[in-house]
Amino acid sequence: MNKRVGIFVSGGGSNMRALVEDMVDDHPARAVVIVSNNETAGGIAWARSQGIATEVIDHRPFGEDRAAFESAINNALEPYELDIICLAGFMRVLTAGFVTPWQGRMLNIHPSLLPKYKGLRTHARALEAGDTEHGCSVHLVTPALDDGPILGQARIPVDPDDTPDSLAARVLAKEHVLYPAVLRRFAAGDTSPITL
Ligand code: GRF
Repeated sequence: MNKRVGIFVSGGGSNMRALVEDMVDDHPARAVVIVSNNETAGGIAWARSQGIATEVIDHRPFGEDRAAFESAINNALEPYELDIICLAGFMRVLTAGFVTPWQGRMLNIHPSLLPKYKGLRTHARALEAGDTEHGCSVHLVTPALDDGPILGQARIPVDPDDTPDSLAARVLAKEHVLYPAVLRRFAAGDTSPITL
């Protein structure tokens, strides 16, 4: 039986798309729902065009009440009986109350070679530090931000004339290869880390 995957997005959803497009044929998982906090997320429109179920839960009416926002997500997810959640550019911090029950079954992609550069502005920070190598990581989600066991990393060289934007574009292209590769193995029960 295929594993049932939910993918959380906030924006363009290019990683979500790479994951969905990989989950065909003998892949051990299928995308059953795309979740977003943002109705206008490009990824939501694309998912609908593919006939994939979508759930949009706007965080704004919940204000500071993250627990209420997360409980609305949990309620929306219930009918889908998910086995795995993939965070793919989901720009809301999830609290321990949401994360803990999913621990070991929730993945995230982060645009840095973790443990370097948790949080935002990862490409600019890598350039500011003079790094000669940069990349992206897929990790299991734990309550600490951008922490948790690493399932895979992809590395790229930093060019002397790189800008944060040029670096981001090359890292994103690697994300689209790394995340599907990790999910395919993870859904088959293999959690040994890979390097691309
Ligand atoms: C990616 O770089 C991801 O690693 C970061 O946000 C970006 C999302 O891009 N957290 P997309 O929505 O998948 O196109």
